[in-house]
Amino acid sequence: MTQTLLRGRLLSFLRAPQSLTDTESYRYEDDGGLLMQNGEIVASGPYAEVKARASADAAEIDHRPHLIMPGFIDMHLHFPQMQVIASYAANLLEWLNTYTFPEECRFVESAHAQRIATHFYDELIRHGTTTAVAYCSVHKTSADAFFSEAMKRNMRMVGGKVMMDRNAPQGLLDTPQMGYDETRQIIADWHGKGRNHVAITPRFAITSTPAQMEASQALAREFPDLHIQTHLSENHDEIKFTCELYPEAVDYTDIYARYGLLGNKTLFGHCIHLSDREADAMSEAGSVAVHCPTSNLFLGSGLFPLKALARRDKPVRIGVATDIGGGSSYSMLRTMDEAYKIQQLLGERLNPLESYYLMTLGNALSLSLADKIGTLDNGTDADVVVLNAAATPAMALKMEVVKTLPEELFLLQTMGDDRAIVETYVAGIAFKSTI
Ligand code: GUN
Ligand code: ZN
Repeated sequence: MTQTLLRGRLLSFLRAPQSLTDTESYRYEDDGGLLMQNGEIVASGPYAEVKARASADAAEIDHRPHLIMPGFIDMHLHFPQMQVIASYAANLLEWLNTYTFPEECRFVESAHAQRIATHFYDELIRHGTTTAVAYCSVHKTSADAFFSEAMKRNMRMVGGKVMMDRNAPQGLLDTPQMGYDETRQIIADWHGKGRNHVAITPRFAITSTPAQMEASQALAREFPDLHIQTHLSENHDEIKFTCELYPEAVDYTDIYARYGLLGNKTLFGHCIHLSDREADAMSEAGSVAVHCPTSNLFLGSGLFPLKALARRDKPVRIGVATDIGGGSSYSMLRTMDEAYKIQQLLGERLNPLESYYLMTLGNALSLSLADKIGTLDNGTDADVVVLNAAATPAMALKMEVVKTLPEELFLLQTMGDDRAIVETYVAGIAFKSTI
């Protein structure tokens, strides 16, 4: 199989950066080479050394002076909400009932699901995202479209059909048995096929009866290696309604704990308003709080205490995500810009090294997939993004005075979007230039 050799400035993380001057936390190669073969990274380092190891017929692509990084990872978004983006609502529950639930009903039609799946992957690639963790609709057709399109493009994707059996329109309800059976069927059909991972996906406690929560627990017991994804503590009205539905639980987090859903493969979207007890429980279980900044601002849900959760005696694992279509951008750069601003409002600092760590290795660790994605290590998937910090005239002007790598990263995050993504490689193949 032929090799592809990329030349450019390589940047990848080794661990979470402790400060803006923590140069030990990342690997940076000013004139770097990245060699890819059979969908994997086979060598990286100084260009001259990697070139010497490449076969004579390796295809070479010169990306200088751009940055080459592991592809971005989006830990939480909704595949059937591409046409929900930019819906004008006062808050989460109004937004769900007025726009989101009616729109998701359309995914019973497989032609519609397939059409949106094509756009979905095009947008991810356009924005440099190579792995995403998605909610499909309640319909099996939507999961089939989601996974078949991922397989066509050989992308590493995590997703699941949502289970929901109350508090939504009839066209969006399954039953505990249907949710269980269809999830099992989706696991049989798609998990481990290509680079697909199926996640057990009870939407949130408001839309699942206790019987459906028990069905989710049964799935979690039968398939302990699978991710579980759901929503937690996003909005004050949501929290109040949820706790009324499960009066026996001490708080929102305890509802999931009671059904065996609080574990180290569980990804909880939002987690904005957790009590200390809930944060302790999340920490002890190793569950992940997934921060969705553009969504939290757009829906007015609240300010996620990222720094406070990360520095607790019992720290909470953190992921970052777009939450399309509550979120307002597919771009992880735009996402981290808003994450930065939220920390500013809380009187905290989120430095740019931390942002890029979170989008890559941080999210890979939160997914327990760091042996496959999130770095440029040998033997990992050749999912790579190429970034241009001078992509627009205004960015180019600012770049004239940028002197350090953290300054360049901060400019990319503050002003960048899909225009800053020069190329996206999926399993070693250049995709962005083909869409
Ligand atoms: N909670 C339950 N479903 C959803 C959803 O689709 N989006 C958001 N932001 N929160 C939710
Ligand atoms: Zn969500």
